[in-house]
Amino acid sequence: MSIQTEKIAKKVTVSTIRNMKGKEPITMVTAYDALFANLFDGSVEMILVGDSLNMSFSGKADTLSANMELMIYHTKAVCMGAKLPLIVLDMPFGAYMTKSLALKNATRVYRETDAHAVKIEGGKERAEIIKTLTDASVAVMGHIGLMPQYVRSEGGYKVRGKDQEDIDRLVEDAKAIEKAGAFAIVVEGVKAEAAQAITEAVSIPTIGIGAGVSTDGQVLVWSDMFGFFEDFKPKFVKQYMNGGKLIRDALGNFVDEVKNRKFPSDEFTY
Ligand code: KIV
Repeated sequence: MSIQTEKIAKKVTVSTIRNMKGKEPITMVTAYDALFANLFDGSVEMILVGDSLNMSFSGKADTLSANMELMIYHTKAVCMGAKLPLIVLDMPFGAYMTKSLALKNATRVYRETDAHAVKIEGGKERAEIIKTLTDASVAVMGHIGLMPQYVRSEGGYKVRGKDQEDIDRLVEDAKAIEKAGAFAIVVEGVKAEAAQAITEAVSIPTIGIGAGVSTDGQVLVWSDMFGFFEDFKPKFVKQYMNGGKLIRDALGNFVDEVKNRKFPSDEFTY
C-alpha cells in the first residue's frame, strides 16, 4: 500500500485548483473547527466548512437549519487552524435565495472570515446568483447532483444521473455553473457515468462525493471518513479509521483507571 506522505508546501489558491484539472486529482475534506483543520493543514488542497456540520456537529436531522452565524463561527475557527488549504464556506439554506441576499451574505463571508470561496447548491436555476457573486469578485464553487438542501422539496436524498435524460440535465447544469464563473463544482450522489460526462463537459474541476472515480477530485465529510459519525454509513463512504471505537476504548481505559485509583499515577502528579 502506498501512503501519500508528500505535504503541500504552498498556499493553495483558486488558480491552483483550476490548474489541477486533468493533471492531478484534487483532495478536499470537511472541517468545522481549528483542531481538525490544523491536523488537515498541508495534506489536502481544500477544506470545506460544510453545512453538514448541522448534522454531524450539531446533531440535527438535516442541513436546513444551519445559518450564516453558525457557518461564519465555524469558518473563523477553521481559518485559525489551517493556513495552506483553500477554505470554502458552504452557504446555508436560505442565504442565497435572491441575488441581493446572496451578495449581502457572501460579502459578510469575505469581510468576517478568511475563507477564499463560497459553495452554492443548485444547477441552472442558480446560475444568475453565481454570476452575481463572481462578477463581484467572490469565488464560487457550485454543487450539483444530490443536493442535501433540496431534501424536503425533492422528498429525500436521491441518487441522480440514472438515465440519459437526467445525465443531459446534469451536464447542462454544470455548463451553466461554469459559464456563470464558478471555479469548481461538487458533484454529489450521481452514477459514475453521469459524473464522467459532467467532468468531460466542463473545463473547471469537478469534485466528487459518491460520484465514482472519474471526477477531478474527491471530497469526504471528516466525521464519516474517520468513523466518528455512526448513525448511518452511505455506500460511498470509505472509513479510513474507526474513530468511534478508538474514542470509546480510550475513554473506557480512563474511566477504568479513575475508578481503580490508577490514574493519576506518580508520573502525572506534581
Ligand atoms: O456540507 C457538506 O459537507 C457538503 C459535502 C457533502 C460536499 O456539501
